[in-house]
Amino acid sequence: MRTSTSGPAFTWRYRVRVRPPISDCDELLALLVSLDGVYDAPPPEGDPVDLLQHGLQCAHELRAHHPDDVELQLAGLVHDVGHAVSDDPDHARTGRQIVAPVLGTRVAELVGLHVAAKRYLAATEDYELSEASRLSLQRQGAAMAPAEMEAFLALPLAADAIALRRADEAAKIVELDVPGLETWSRPMRQHAILVAAAQGATE
Ligand SMILES: [Fe+2]
Repeated sequence: MRTSTSGPAFTWRYRVRVRPPISDCDELLALLVSLDGVYDAPPPEGDPVDLLQHGLQCAHELRAHHPDDVELQLAGLVHDVGHAVSDDPDHARTGRQIVAPVLGTRVAELVGLHVAAKRYLAATEDYELSEASRLSLQRQGAAMAPAEMEAFLALPLAADAIALRRADEAAKIVELDVPGLETWSRPMRQHAILVAAAQGATE
């Protein structure tokens, strides 16, 4: 979490040392650990919690509202890893590519759709956004046009992507106490085993 904006001890960081490609669960967990103290963007576009805390809050929110959907929860946990690993402005696409080999197609697609879901919600309701999200929305293409909305809603994962995006926006609370990464290690490993088995079965 961002604890100070001044003073000699605090250094803003926006990139991690763990670099893709990520090929197994240990590497993905190491990437998540390295998000501690790493922010999505410099102010004013940056959110007030670091990317590890943001992912933990997002996953916790999804677990509360979608307790039976572990894939959706894991997607919430990892949805913003793309911010920290490259200069590609499309962090959702980057994140999708990073997590797909470990967490499989559905989790990866949800990560890839979370920005589109934000643009959809901005077009369809009085969508309350943080200052950071409001600024980045313009860079991400602003609210969807009607044809884009129709195409988005036709996607099988549209409703789940919207749920992820709502949790994303709620996951920016400074000093909110949520379970740490250790609570996600087991479900992530269990899911990764299922993904690997499914991939092996299709080879
Ligand atoms: Fe996010």
